[in-house]
Amino acid sequence: MERRLANILVTGGAGFIGSNFIHYLFKSTDFKGKIINADKLTYAGNLDNLIKIEKTLGGNRYFFEKADICDFEKMKDIFQKYNIDTVVNFAAESHVDRSIFGPRDFMQTNIMGTFNLLEVAREYWQEKDKDDFLFHHISTDEVYGSTEEGEYFYENTAYQPNSPYSASKASSDHLVRAYFKTYGLPVTISNCSNNYGPYQFPEKLIPLMIMNILEEKPLPVYGDGKNIRDWLYVEDHCSAIWQILNHGKTGETYNIGGENEWENIRLVNVLCEEISCIKGEDRDCYKKLINYIKDRPGHDRRYAINCSKIKKQLGWSQKYSFQEDLNKTINWYIDNRKWVERVRTGEYKQWVDKNYKDR
Ligand code: NAD
Ligand code: DAU
Repeated sequence: MERRLANILVTGGAGFIGSNFIHYLFKSTDFKGKIINADKLTYAGNLDNLIKIEKTLGGNRYFFEKADICDFEKMKDIFQKYNIDTVVNFAAESHVDRSIFGPRDFMQTNIMGTFNLLEVAREYWQEKDKDDFLFHHISTDEVYGSTEEGEYFYENTAYQPNSPYSASKASSDHLVRAYFKTYGLPVTISNCSNNYGPYQFPEKLIPLMIMNILEEKPLPVYGDGKNIRDWLYVEDHCSAIWQILNHGKTGETYNIGGENEWENIRLVNVLCEEISCIKGEDRDCYKKLINYIKDRPGHDRRYAINCSKIKKQLGWSQKYSFQEDLNKTINWYIDNRKWVERVRTGEYKQWVDKNYKDR
């Protein structure tokens, strides 16, 4: 059965996946209701990601509120003001390296922020007696820890987070689940693998490597480069979330993945080759930039999602091809150098200068 969705609150909508999700709602769905983007605008939040929505597509259906999910009164006002029936909680501190250098903000936003949002949602849902309310929480495959070759993460795999980031996300997942079990708050959770695509902050592997290749800077590969990640194009993640919002069963968790595993070093080599091809240069010319550096502490060796549940139960599948969409992503970064330059200034630059001295 399809849920009725009228007013969707997207937290963290100015970040990478949140802004892609808002674009997806306008471009690829028949959703006609309101979209409210509540974002604190940390270093990772950029309203530039949504200029097209603000200026053209959004009309009287898109609204931005600068808000911290930890602020109970502000979030409560937003729920009331826009008569929210659906929450998609993307808001988080999302970069593992930063969680190792300074975990406090991760605990504050990812744990306390989710807790606060759940409290706002519970009070509001009970008061309004909304029968079509849904709180969807966006999470990660990292909560399951690291897995061996041939093994996969299922929805019932035990949580074993290894970084402050993944531990904070695991805590938030547990809180969301507890609000379903204890209060009956209608919730769903999704745990997704590594995303790539436009608007990804250039601190994450793919955009960082693309930019360093374009700028002919060293390519910092952690450890032996043989860690494995499962890559999914961001629009495929968005379509999976959309399926869950419409057809997901409350209280359930859905794994989302690309079924597309890559060793980091293989991926970095492919990026070098693709960019040299786009620029009409010798195929191997950028590989000399590869620089093996000290491993990330607690670095998970392999992530591998089994996503058969969402495929079977909600009819979702990946639509995009890695080869084509990696290329599209490279070209997006080539065409959007100004965006990259803007987001790399300020607080982010200070952080890099302080913490990434060995690069
Ligand atoms: P991002 O860092 O690009 O964006 C996070 C957004 O949240 C930013 O706009 C930021 O300003 C906002 N934010 C941070 N703290 C906030 C607060 N206290 N209140 C309100 N807004 C706040 O992250 P992303 O890569 O887009 O990830 C989005 C979500 O998806 C996260 O929950 C992350 O854990 C999850 N996830 C990410 C990936 C991935 O590959 N990037 C994969 C699986 C799950
Ligand atoms: O798996 C989902 C997760 O994917 C999300 O929950 C996180 O929010 C997201 O940041 C991402 O986490 P990872 O740690 O996997 O992504 P990152 O891009 O930081 O690193 C990918 C791999 O590349 C990882 O094995 C570490 C390695 N790496 C990363 C960077 C930034 C390097 O070798 N060098 C680097 O400079």
